[in-house]
Amino acid sequence: MQIKKAEFITSNTDPAKCPKPDKPEYAFIGRSNVGKSSLINMLANRKSLAKTSQTPGKTQLINHFLIDDKWYLVDLPGYGFAKVSKTSREKWEKMIHDYLTSRENLVCTFVLIDGRIPPQANDLQFMEWLGEHNLPFVMVFTKTEKVGVNIIKKSIADYHKTMRQTWADVPPHFVTSSVIGRGQDEILAYIDELNREYNEAAR
Ligand code: GTP
Ligand code: MG
Repeated sequence: MQIKKAEFITSNTDPAKCPKPDKPEYAFIGRSNVGKSSLINMLANRKSLAKTSQTPGKTQLINHFLIDDKWYLVDLPGYGFAKVSKTSREKWEKMIHDYLTSRENLVCTFVLIDGRIPPQANDLQFMEWLGEHNLPFVMVFTKTEKVGVNIIKKSIADYHKTMRQTWADVPPHFVTSSVIGRGQDEILAYIDELNREYNEAAR
């Protein structure tokens, strides 16, 4: 699958004000600066559909993009940015947790993880939370053009090892780079398949 049309629809803090939940939806989340907005642009072959920045904390709202008039990509604000106050952290948590648990058309959450560094406690905690709430997710390793393949393999193996202590299954994963377009075909094929299942179940 290739994305032909991508349009920005809304930015929200209130999950209840998001677009009507009548199409399959995929949310992108992860630590601030991990590359969520860049990955959305890469998937859509667009330079600045979602706003990116070298400074963490760029995306602050729940942003809906309608893709090919058929499904939604959602760019979310990141977690783990050291410089935020306790109040903003709590606000983020409430907004994101409300969104993820109430959005009935949310098919899968893509959890972005910096592929260059060892497993981080906040990424593991966030995925643990998703698992506890029975929310389907996949792992997306980002910025992988920056390091050798063995570093990425080790990082994936380390995540799996920790996750298997709690869960019987580990979620699927993707190895990506927005700079060189790595992982685009694989992620879009995965979404295409989930869209098909969603539409069959809705019939
Ligand atoms: P917030 O909205 O602040 O939470 O960040 P984000 O996760 O949306 O990250 P964003 O896409 O804005 O990218 C953050 C920085 O990482 C930017 O400087 C990007 O150019 C850079 N970046 C994103 N993806 C890649 C990648 O695949 N490789 C490299 N080398 N840099 C990347
Ligand atoms: Mg962003």
